[in-house]
Amino acid sequence: MLIRAADPEMVQDVSPRREIADFRGRDLLGMEDLTAADICAILDSAASFKEISEREIKKVPTLRGKTIINLFFEPSTRTRTSFEIAGKRLSADVINISVSTSSLSKGETLRDTADTLAAMRADVLVVRHRAAGVPHMLARFSPSPVINAGDGAHEHPTQALLDLYTIREKLDTLQGRRVVIVGDIANSRVARSNIIGMHKLGMDVGVCAPRTMIPVGMESWGVDYHSDFDAVLPDADVVMMLRIQRERHGDVLFPSLQEYSDRYCLTSDRMRRAKPEILVMHPGPMNRGVEIAPEVADGLESVILQQVTNGVAVRMALLYLIVGSGSN
Ligand code: CP
Repeated sequence: MLIRAADPEMVQDVSPRREIADFRGRDLLGMEDLTAADICAILDSAASFKEISEREIKKVPTLRGKTIINLFFEPSTRTRTSFEIAGKRLSADVINISVSTSSLSKGETLRDTADTLAAMRADVLVVRHRAAGVPHMLARFSPSPVINAGDGAHEHPTQALLDLYTIREKLDTLQGRRVVIVGDIANSRVARSNIIGMHKLGMDVGVCAPRTMIPVGMESWGVDYHSDFDAVLPDADVVMMLRIQRERHGDVLFPSLQEYSDRYCLTSDRMRRAKPEILVMHPGPMNRGVEIAPEVADGLESVILQQVTNGVAVRMALLYLIVGSGSN
């Protein structure tokens, strides 16, 4: 996959008041499929949905009569729950299919699962799978749109959108901002989706990790690579810490957890090198004390829980744009 920095002309073309793209019935499989204007339209729409979650009665009738199916083949707390909350706040019926209690555990194929859900007239499928490309495959079979909620190490577009929303909310502008993503880049769908989206919006992205956590061919991603966290931190407007995905590769990428942590954990000592207004982000789940110290995760610069809050608004906007009328 080739990831390139945004064409500056295209970025400048994205004015604050633009036409809302028609997302009705469209799949959301990756940030690669979205233009800069699409991303900005989704973020603008999310801003109008965020207020609903601040109300005493957090419910509007927008998607009454629509059915959302959450089909998660991998564990999730934030993504699955926030899609469920987003759907319910829009008055949709939300069905969560747990793979361990469904016929998928009896050997049913993805094709048959897609046909079965289509026969029940689902309006949208939200899919997470450990294998890259599964949401794309389901999208080919499914008459209803598919939203990728994370496929292997490939993409996690809704996470990138909520991250971009959070940065824009805190820093106001995205173009020219410097982001450093630290940790297990090779196995991170969050890093991949963010890099694609950030480049489309004219942001400057660096990655920092041991060489063993950098994917082959990253030269074509348009990011600069650093192994020294202390050297790269001072220039960052945003630092995004990633979990080591031990379930994907075991512990073979570094000599010991202690050694990794000594070099790459975001500690309060390290934070002294950072800009005072830096944003500390983490998609979760965190391994406190490994990639991020508890006092930094809970510190003033941390926007980690705001990312979670914004995840509901961004997913409400996406469900509305894809399943609802598609226009404000
Ligand atoms: N960020 C994220 O995808 O978290 P979950 O695995 O809890 O959904």
